[in-house]
Amino acid sequence: MKYDFDRVIERRGTDSIKWKKYGDDVIPLWVADMDFASADPVIQALRRRVDHGIFGYPAAPDELHDVIRDRLDRLYHWDAGNNDLFFSPGLVTGLNVAFQAYAAPGDGVLAQPPVYFHFINDPAWHGRVVDEPPLSEKGDTYEIDFDLFEKSITSRTKLFVLCNPHNPAGRVYTRSELERLAEICLRHNLVICSDEIHCDLLYPGHRHIPIATLSPEVATQTVTLMAPSKTYNLAGLGCSFIIIKNRALQEAWRKISFGLVPHVNTMGYVAALAAFKHGQDWLEQVLAYLKDNRDFLQHYIGENLAGVRMFKMEATYLAWLDCRAAGIRGNPAEFFLREARVALNDGTEFGKAGHGFVRLNFACPRATLGEALDRMAAALQRT
Ligand SMILES: Cc1ncc(COP(=O)(O)O)c(C=O)c1O
Repeated sequence: MKYDFDRVIERRGTDSIKWKKYGDDVIPLWVADMDFASADPVIQALRRRVDHGIFGYPAAPDELHDVIRDRLDRLYHWDAGNNDLFFSPGLVTGLNVAFQAYAAPGDGVLAQPPVYFHFINDPAWHGRVVDEPPLSEKGDTYEIDFDLFEKSITSRTKLFVLCNPHNPAGRVYTRSELERLAEICLRHNLVICSDEIHCDLLYPGHRHIPIATLSPEVATQTVTLMAPSKTYNLAGLGCSFIIIKNRALQEAWRKISFGLVPHVNTMGYVAALAAFKHGQDWLEQVLAYLKDNRDFLQHYIGENLAGVRMFKMEATYLAWLDCRAAGIRGNPAEFFLREARVALNDGTEFGKAGHGFVRLNFACPRATLGEALDRMAAALQRT
């Protein structure tokens, strides 16, 4: 089936976080969901389930276990047993379980800013100490400063929280980068919590490698978080999964989550199963559309947004824009909201390294993106 991602679907009035926060005259390019309808087989499967009419407590479908295990094997030659799979409504929930299960109050958690804000804020809220060896800017991309990374590890550090593919840096880490990170973590006996939610949203020339697949030793130290939510635009249905091989880490996971982490809801399971079984066609088409949007954005910025610099994107639909040379007085996200009526994420949400940056979500019809960019260009010209 051919999907029409150019179609503008009204999301105002649907209680979308992205579309509800700002006024009706604002184009929201912030929260990470897509303004595209889900794959047809997902919508059909949800309809069939609604028609059944009974919505009691659900169990994870056996077939979903099989489909996920088959997928991990096919894509990554990764052998996950049924007992190694855990479900959770969301990855943020999973991250918070990990922060509490694998680091005690006062223990250290390591993150690499600029990074998704839950990596930095949530451990700190729960009394963990966050050490933040930043990624280092190298031209239009980011690299890991391995010396700095290792120097940030102290006797209190217990957990490294990895974002791969990286939001907002857009990196897909290479095997050698992952091997160096894993080697350091194993040498210091750190648990690795690897958030791989963006693993299917890759651009040509890049391949995702789950860090846990590097070796049995790394798998033993790693908890991997994945979901169909970004891949298939199902965030509102709340279904994610966690792969944990190590029995002790599994036990700690169960202890923290029992009674606190709710079941995945019926619709989340139904959508996840339908998406993984029948969503490949939609995914291939959406990836092609996102790539064109990425290229359109890059080109537009070069031509029309003087002083704004877009980082190279190997993955995700979240562009990281350096506005420090654009002549904007004050905070660029506030400027674009006020002057262009375009809502972006403020770079400082991702840590101190994001000062002067914004994050722009381009998973929307090209016409919406074009209009937002025209408004941003006009606002810059007026400064
Ligand atoms: C790296 C990363 N992890 C987690 C999430 C959110 O996951 P969830 O909606 O499953 O809690 C996002 C959303 O943008 C993200 O970028």
